[in-house]
Amino acid sequence: MGVIVQFCGLSGSGKTTLANAVFHQFEKEGLKVMVLDGDHYRLTLCKDLGFSKADRLENVRRIAAEAEKLRSQYDVLILSIINPFEIGRNHIRLTHQAEVVWIKCELETLIKRDTKGLYYKAMLPDKHLEKIYNLTGVNDTFDAPDKAALVIETTRSSPKVCLDQLTFFLKQCIRQP
Ligand code: PPS
Ligand code: MG
Repeated sequence: MGVIVQFCGLSGSGKTTLANAVFHQFEKEGLKVMVLDGDHYRLTLCKDLGFSKADRLENVRRIAAEAEKLRSQYDVLILSIINPFEIGRNHIRLTHQAEVVWIKCELETLIKRDTKGLYYKAMLPDKHLEKIYNLTGVNDTFDAPDKAALVIETTRSSPKVCLDQLTFFLKQCIRQP
């Protein structure tokens, strides 16, 4: 049975990049990794969902259930999602034995990087046509995780250090399921 790991972290914090880096590194080592990315499932399995609290909880629930179905085919399955609510993370942790990894990045850095332009839009004045009113970490909730098994600080550590921390942790999880 593969190990399911649930990421959480703000948009642009490095979830997708790190999950894909693990995929490539482990592939070289003969380990099978599946990355379940929020951006992908929001176009497919979860395309009926928006960004309200109820929809975000349903989104992460469905993605975790998908990982559970595929579990026997992989060594590691990474839920690469914002996953902002402690209640949702606790549910996934208990239902799927999936540890929480917080991909943590300072908001100031995210606003500077803003690769998708979402932070710019969230910070526009009220009633502006392009304003986003529910961006996690700006004007929507992100519960700081209470029970993260690992916190990766992508503002402070180099990409190589972040990847090493994550692969070390995942290998421990694989050995002690
Ligand atoms: S959640 O909260 O766990 O259900 O989110 P997730 O399925 O991971 O989807 C996050 C991606 O959706 C894009 N996006 C937004 N994210 C957060 N808040 C708002 N309002 C929003 N609107 C669009 C964004 O591309 C997220 O991807 P990442 O990779 O996190 O940047
Ligand atoms: Mg992403």
